[in-house]
Amino acid sequence: MLNGALWLDDRGRHINAHGGGILEHRGVFYWYGEHKGPGVNGKLAYDGVRMYASQDLQKWQDCGIVLQVNNTPGHPVCAGCRIERPKVIYCEKSGKFVMYFHSSNLEHRIAKRGLAIADDPAGPFTFISAERPNAGFLPLNAGTVEPGSYLPEHLMRNGEYEELKNSNFYLRDFAGGQMARDMNLFVDSDGKAFHIYASEHNSTLHIAELTDDYLYWSGRYVRVLPDRWNEGEALFTYRNKYYLLASGCTGWRPNAARSAVADSVMGEYTMLGNPCRGAGAEITFGGQSSAVFRAGDTYVAMFDLWNDQNFIDSRYCWLPVKFTGDGFEIHYQEKFEL
Ligand code: GAL
Repeated sequence: MLNGALWLDDRGRHINAHGGGILEHRGVFYWYGEHKGPGVNGKLAYDGVRMYASQDLQKWQDCGIVLQVNNTPGHPVCAGCRIERPKVIYCEKSGKFVMYFHSSNLEHRIAKRGLAIADDPAGPFTFISAERPNAGFLPLNAGTVEPGSYLPEHLMRNGEYEELKNSNFYLRDFAGGQMARDMNLFVDSDGKAFHIYASEHNSTLHIAELTDDYLYWSGRYVRVLPDRWNEGEALFTYRNKYYLLASGCTGWRPNAARSAVADSVMGEYTMLGNPCRGAGAEITFGGQSSAVFRAGDTYVAMFDLWNDQNFIDSRYCWLPVKFTGDGFEIHYQEKFEL
């Protein structure tokens, strides 16, 4: 698969699974992602979440829409809403496949976690709820960075700045639950699962422990890298260290990736800078991180090359993660192969 080229499925169509992630289950890789449509409005969900299956990460079988939109206006998964960054994990205890996604609307102001479950990796996934995480719970840690210090320019321009400046968002959202936009899921070696989401208007990541059935939050969560404006975040572990890969917040436009490391899953995380190397590294080779998955001994970082004029034509770039001892690097290569 050539990075940035069309990636064809078993029917010869470009794979339509954006902002996605991989679940490996019983020797099969399942790639779940946003089914995008044509044009600028292709960002909205008119189909749902699509899934492809593969045994070798090269040949992908189109398994169709596994979470379908409905025709009830205003419903969290109605046609024309936003279903972004779907991720699926398998819960050994319940035998269920659990999908989390960013549930939003046209205006993009909802910031909820959508939940859907299935008995089979191929679905159908049943929508359960759209909620904000950790209502009524305070984070286990407290932020120390002054709000506003890393505020991205585009937010200053569109007027959100005044609203955001000097706010303690997690206190504001204490009763109703925390904002959750770009998100990912992580299952640790002991089976404990964690929800990582861009919160507080995207200014701060939260890492929240899940209940044993993976369906809800336990109430234990931390604020991570406060006020550093990370999204497109992926969490993975290697040799007793926990790593974060993320993008900055510039919408569909690429920016420099970031990385961070910690000794335990809930931190404290230390920023490591841009892990990308090679031509175009300062704009993540034109992409935005979406997930990191493991295939045998190789860790693969998935990036979306967004086409915000014709979303269905957005491309992919998958690159191996190279661990360096104190961090990791991602070197550009033309081809994705293991
Ligand atoms: C990006 C985000 C995408 C999508 C987009 C909408 O920052 O990573 O998932 O939400 O903004 O503008």
